[in-house]
Amino acid sequence: MKSIFREGVYAGKAVFVAGGTSGINLEVAKGFAASGARVSVMSRKQDNVDAAVQQLKTAGAEAIGFAADVRDFDAVKQAFVETEAAIGKVSVIVSGAAGNFVAPAEKLSPNGFKTVVDIDLVGSFHVMKAGFDHLTQGDASIVNMSAPQSSHPYAFQSHVCSAKAGIDMLTKALALEWGRYGIRVNAIQPGPIDGTEGMERLSPTPEIRRQIEGMLPLKRYGEKQEIADLVLFLCSPAARYITGAIIPCDGGQALVGGGTVSMGLIPTPK
Ligand code: COA
Repeated sequence: MKSIFREGVYAGKAVFVAGGTSGINLEVAKGFAASGARVSVMSRKQDNVDAAVQQLKTAGAEAIGFAADVRDFDAVKQAFVETEAAIGKVSVIVSGAAGNFVAPAEKLSPNGFKTVVDIDLVGSFHVMKAGFDHLTQGDASIVNMSAPQSSHPYAFQSHVCSAKAGIDMLTKALALEWGRYGIRVNAIQPGPIDGTEGMERLSPTPEIRRQIEGMLPLKRYGEKQEIADLVLFLCSPAARYITGAIIPCDGGQALVGGGTVSMGLIPTPK
């Protein structure tokens, strides 16, 4: 499916995507690049960063990348400093770095719980706080990657549910505070998206996939590009009066609950 966004919509703009070297976030970075933006991506592994930057450049975009862990505020700050030096102040920040695994709470170590909260929630704060001074105030937009787990409890993902619920409230709190600077802050909740690491782990067989699709009101998995299109919409002038919104993009999954383990489709993790 081709993006609904015309080439050039983001011409002259710079965009920073944390976690933008793989999966949904790379598709988001590609969407901005295809719409004319200069793009900076950041993730933990240098190899992934190099590969993503190469893909973006091959597609014709001006692109740079940084290897940094969102848990390390100083490293994130440095990535923004170098981004501004290379491609200018950014109009858009997408905060998408995340960690996930399934584990029953009684078997989840305190460090396992803390690790996911540190990556998802504290990491999102780091990205927004570090990026604040590098945003073009007046017409700036931040999109945080939340998840269905933020508003619907999923069994064996207490850590993810807690972290993502925190992201939703952080999104609303900063939308409230930063509206006066012309910075809009929104979050999206991608549902089951085809070709992502998360869904490969959560729907490991074609039969389970068919069962999940059968439960979804739209009866199919989403495409990464459908998430990218939503992010591009949210950061565009078409969404200029939207801030503090938490928007599902999930084929209607939020209407019927969710979680392959919660629904008994895959066994309880040992
Ligand atoms: N089940 C239970 N606990 C787990 C776990 C699992 N599958 N994976 C990690 N943990 C625990 C570890 O045991 C450790 O706790 P401990 O010190 O008490 O043993 C803690 O989490 C940190 O793990 P570690 O691997 O050292 O952390 P990390 O920073 O290298 O990576 C993740 C953390 C979450 C990113 C890692 O699990 C991971 O790589 N996940 C796959 C990638 C991913 O999540 N992508 C996002 C898809 S949405």
